[in-house]
Amino acid sequence: MNELMRTLLFLPEQGTDYARSVDHLHYFVISATMLGSAAVFVTVIAFVIVYRRRRARQSTPVVEPKPIHEAVFIGLPLVLFLVWFGIGFPQFVALQTPPKDAMDVYVQGKKWMWKFAYPGGPSAVDTLRVPAGRPVRLLMTSRDVIHSFYVPAFRLKQDVLPGRYTQTWFQAKEPGRHQIFCAEFCGVGHSAMLGEVVVMEPSEFDAWVANQRRVVAAAQDSAPVPSEDVDVRTSLVDQGRKLASEYGCFKCHTVDGTLHIGPTWLDLYGRREKLKDGKWVVADEGYLTRSMMDPRAEVVAGFQDVMPTFQGRIPAPEVAAIVEFIKSLRTSTVRPEPSKGPVYAPIPPAK
Ligand code: CUA
Repeated sequence: MNELMRTLLFLPEQGTDYARSVDHLHYFVISATMLGSAAVFVTVIAFVIVYRRRRARQSTPVVEPKPIHEAVFIGLPLVLFLVWFGIGFPQFVALQTPPKDAMDVYVQGKKWMWKFAYPGGPSAVDTLRVPAGRPVRLLMTSRDVIHSFYVPAFRLKQDVLPGRYTQTWFQAKEPGRHQIFCAEFCGVGHSAMLGEVVVMEPSEFDAWVANQRRVVAAAQDSAPVPSEDVDVRTSLVDQGRKLASEYGCFKCHTVDGTLHIGPTWLDLYGRREKLKDGKWVVADEGYLTRSMMDPRAEVVAGFQDVMPTFQGRIPAPEVAAIVEFIKSLRTSTVRPEPSKGPVYAPIPPAK
């Protein structure tokens, strides 16, 4: 049944379980609407025949619809729409919540190519290699304009924006190759902004990563790296540490938990922070990036609003490296308490 419908509707293969569930909803919606239109069509034809004018000057009687008819005509479609929502919403939520153990890959859209970087190396252009059967989370940003990362076989599409991170995830079912498209018009090279997801056997993938890292390490002293790119020869974490020092982050942020001008980076990732305006946020990739680009927007309670903006000063791949460095500063898997600022007065003893 699934295969028949998929062929009838010209849908690409289903590379993930998610794709399957999306398709099932699609079959349901399209069958219901097709049946609905067919029923309307048949009714119209029947009415044309049954209620045709039989003699000249025949008048049409006034029809008063009964409330029950109105209720049925409004209620039926409403129920259908609610059922679709009931099926679709959990799918949407599932797509928005990557599993905790997902493997991170940084994705960077750029006119007109896709770049992928694994936190411990290596990085690649246009080819995303992933293991089958393991969840993969994509942390995506753009260097220039809005792109959209689209893998039809995974039924996955997510906008990729400059100056901010968006995320999505998938778990490929079996080894194979799938096309990546850009689904947001981004200039003359848009239609050529193609890539490929290569799904590998997990063991093969691990071997590939290990081998790549060896090659990269061996090349440590050779050719200089193009200046606009993050150095692919060291891990993102190491680059992040170096960059943070170059940008002067450590003048205000400590990495060992010591209170200072800004929140400490130790255990910052995943921490729930209380903001000046009373709201709470989770310090995830998105928040950390926003804090660099627009630090005044979400100041953590207890801290002074003194951080300068880095909008336009730190290129996207460097932001990724710094975020990855912050993520590496973890002492435990327990979600830490909100940051305490240096301007807190000592808490008075309870009476
Ligand atoms: Cu990138 Cu279209």
